[in-house]
Amino acid sequence: MYVCICQAVTDRDIREAVDAGARSMRELRRRLNLCNSCGRCGQHARELLVEITTGVTATAVHIELPAVRETAVPAA
Ligand code: FES
Repeated sequence: MYVCICQAVTDRDIREAVDAGARSMRELRRRLNLCNSCGRCGQHARELLVEITTGVTATAVHIELPAVRETAVPAA
């Protein structure tokens, strides 16, 4: 799957770069030239880098929070 459309970088390219030693976005950018045009791939590339290097998958989490009650602040 393409991660960076502008530079035609795939998730496989990123996995290979990590296997070859890349451990940061700076290193991925240097090796693959991704995220150097429109920048839209940055978040996905970063999530993929974390997933590959840590084994932790980034997923969106939706948390329902209770409504906040506004209280009047007494005048000083
Ligand atoms: S999608 Fe990667 S720079 Fe545009």
